[in-house]
Amino acid sequence: MGEIELKLDPPQEKQKLFFKAFARYISYGGARAGGKSWAMRTKMALLCAYYPGLQCLLLRRTFAELQENHVKPLLRMLKGVAKYNTQHKVFRFPNGSELKLGYCDREEDVLQYQGQAYDVIGMEEATLFTEYQFNCLRESLRSSGLVKVPFQPRMYLTMNPGGVGHAWVKRLFVDRNYREKERAEDYVFIPAQVYDNKIFMKNDPEYVSQLESLPEKRKRAMLYGDWDAFEGAYFEEFKLRPDPKACQEAGITPEEALATHKFTHVIKPFDIPHNWKIYRSFDWGYARPYSVEYFALSPDDTAFMIAEIYGWNGIPNEGARETNKEICERIVNFERTHPYLSGKKIRGVADPSCWTGHGGVSFADEAEKHSIWFEPGDNDRIPGWMQVRDRLWMDSNGRAKLYFFETCKAIIRCMPLMIYDKHHVEDLDSSLEDHALDSLRYFCQMHKIPPREHKKETIYMSDPLNQFTEERGGYFGG
Ligand SMILES: Nc1ncnc2c1ncn2[C@@H]1O[C@H](COP(=O)(O)OP(=O)(O)O)[C@@H](O)[C@H]1O
Ligand SMILES: [Mg+2]
Repeated sequence: MGEIELKLDPPQEKQKLFFKAFARYISYGGARAGGKSWAMRTKMALLCAYYPGLQCLLLRRTFAELQENHVKPLLRMLKGVAKYNTQHKVFRFPNGSELKLGYCDREEDVLQYQGQAYDVIGMEEATLFTEYQFNCLRESLRSSGLVKVPFQPRMYLTMNPGGVGHAWVKRLFVDRNYREKERAEDYVFIPAQVYDNKIFMKNDPEYVSQLESLPEKRKRAMLYGDWDAFEGAYFEEFKLRPDPKACQEAGITPEEALATHKFTHVIKPFDIPHNWKIYRSFDWGYARPYSVEYFALSPDDTAFMIAEIYGWNGIPNEGARETNKEICERIVNFERTHPYLSGKKIRGVADPSCWTGHGGVSFADEAEKHSIWFEPGDNDRIPGWMQVRDRLWMDSNGRAKLYFFETCKAIIRCMPLMIYDKHHVEDLDSSLEDHALDSLRYFCQMHKIPPREHKKETIYMSDPLNQFTEERGGYFGG
């Protein structure tokens, strides 16, 4: 078989390190515009051309990103070399190698690769994948048996700090904190920043200065790839359980902390004193979930989310597809029978779009028919999120102004998933399952609290690249 010739731009210094690295899991990047996507698709194409019969899978989180970021550039790069099958999204090389492209929009989309065997898997923007998805993909990383020469299966990953996968990526590649059966030598990380992408620096200085003028914490994460500056979560204050370190410092056990509502936001339900006011907030949804939330407000202005109706079909971010009438009937029934709510006077606030009729009867009209009353919520997002965060913030005693009964499953599941928006840096990414958060925001805006004292930000002086040179020496064999 004749050799395959690829006409390529030469790799830049950090990309060369990525190309030469050898391990089972090789990751690259850690900051914006470090030449990650270029390195990923070029490496895949080179491997396919070099090893006859190689079976590769290249994944991104969504189809649109895959199309823009890889399909189009690969069509240009592989013109006259490999044939693209649009239906199966696969580039077929004359030497029998295949580069399949895929995406994992939903958690379970990853299952389609289960039981398959790929010699090489590429995960683009790995921090947007969940640990579950990563673990499923690892199982498909095994010899396809179709490569004509010896080849060790391997996975390539590119990433930025932040996203649902921040924690697992950071643990494996940045902190290098391994669990039983994980071998340190299997994991390699080549950090690269925009400053390492000389071509981009020259072509798009505008973008670089945009990165340089980001708010400090965001800048450290996005520009310098500081994994500690941004824990991925938009609500980084949110604690699912009492923080053991904080408890130790306060001289109490986590059980005591839980019982006294310290160092945690999720607590055990308790009986609501009869004089506490009760509120209902609502974010509408049909194809996407809707969220009805109930709050009790203590005399000292602490809010407790005591119950919720989450209108979903059990799949993350998929709505129950209930009509307005069905939603209202559910609310009426819930409030009539729920021990915290029955017989109570409830004040409601809702997504302001509930008053738009779309030519027919608005949700607010329908609610009125069922004697459910709402006032239009304040939809000014950034001040709203500031209210939520101010309530979440814990004082030196570990006390917040907002707690969630552990029975409020949806908000507890969704809150840690929220990440910053790529374009509106102060907002959260509203393409995520944020409905329970929106509903919470309407409630918090209805009950504004004065700004609370703020924690001092920790400044991280370390250069992330040092981490690489100190810890990573010696993994470049091959
Ligand atoms: N070695 C290279 N040769 C030519 N262009 C490159 C090279 N590396 C990166 N680029 C270009 O730099 C820009 C940013 O790179 P990209 O890989 O998209 O960055 P990232 O994925 O890290 O955000 C793109 O236009 C890309 O084509
Ligand atoms: Mg990219």
